[in-house]
Amino acid sequence: MNDVKTEYSHLIDLNDYPVEWWEQVVNLGKEIYENPEKYAHKLDGKILATLFYEPSTRTQMSFQTAMLRLGGTLIGFDNPSTSSVAKGENLKDTTKVVSSYADVLVIRHPLAGAAKAAALTSDCPIINAGDGGHLHPTQTLTDMLTLKLEKGRLNDLTIGLCGDLKFGRTVHSLVKAMSCFSGNKFVFFSTPELRIPSYVRDILDAGGIEYEEIDALEKGIDKLDVLYMTRIQRERFASEEEYSAQKDIYVLDRHKLMRSKPDLAVLHPLPRVDEITVDVDGDSRACYFKQARYGVFVRMALILTLLENDCCKPKLLSGKEYNNVKCSNDKCITNCEHYLPKSFKGFGDNLECEFCNERTLL
Ligand code: CP
Repeated sequence: MNDVKTEYSHLIDLNDYPVEWWEQVVNLGKEIYENPEKYAHKLDGKILATLFYEPSTRTQMSFQTAMLRLGGTLIGFDNPSTSSVAKGENLKDTTKVVSSYADVLVIRHPLAGAAKAAALTSDCPIINAGDGGHLHPTQTLTDMLTLKLEKGRLNDLTIGLCGDLKFGRTVHSLVKAMSCFSGNKFVFFSTPELRIPSYVRDILDAGGIEYEEIDALEKGIDKLDVLYMTRIQRERFASEEEYSAQKDIYVLDRHKLMRSKPDLAVLHPLPRVDEITVDVDGDSRACYFKQARYGVFVRMALILTLLENDCCKPKLLSGKEYNNVKCSNDKCITNCEHYLPKSFKGFGDNLECEFCNERTLL
């Protein structure tokens, strides 16, 4: 039986923490947004490291801005090919070394479960800045602060999510988080190929949370309080043909926006490609550039919270090791970094991987 505890408060998955903790971080983000000068020297002398194995503009730079605005400094790489990763160094060793230089480490990686794998050997708190198609919890904190500031609440919202619901880690994190607030309902707009994963639907079903799946934005936009648009992510598809078959199916333009409520909030984690036409940008319902800015304040709040290290410290692994079982997700970190424990939790006839949450039939 695994029982891997941790000395540090990491943020791997928001659901490792109680809802009250998320609210505390979001409320602190709002307080910092309103009074930034009070926080300008809170982290003088502290160091944040960014290990970005995958491209990023907002997440990386908003973390860097957040640390600088708290008085701290930065180290890290944004391109593994210029680090010793290019010489074959594994994630364990890179994490072990960099976490001995820094006070907090932010990691983005193309493989699901990479942040949890890094946390197993880290000597400082780890923040998951996106692990493959799995989770993106700090985007969710950003989205929650945006809803708090733009809608005034996190409950009783009808939330539409549109586009790549299968590989969209921001979607998975947001649905899991918002399903914990009372009165929220979900409308999923996607093709059958990019449908929301079964593990997310199972969470909604188990909680008795209302959701529907619709194939066209026009059929449901009028009932929404929030519309979360997403990019069809070319980099997540096995072939160019599969990507081409999915792109450009869902496009929000001014014509479709006319059918929505006047106080709809349109969010997008960005980057945008073609899924929102630029003529929507000037509409009062378009919140996505404000959303990107709010990300700095909530990340300031998160860094402060984790460095206080007096919040709870969720266990990293608590399932069972099955050394002869291979996770069925080719993009799971356990299929690349072979020293990792093959740790699963029982789920009916399936085993759920503790790194990527994918189910594997026993
Ligand atoms: N929203 C988001 O994660 O953007 P980046 O990929 O630019 O960090």
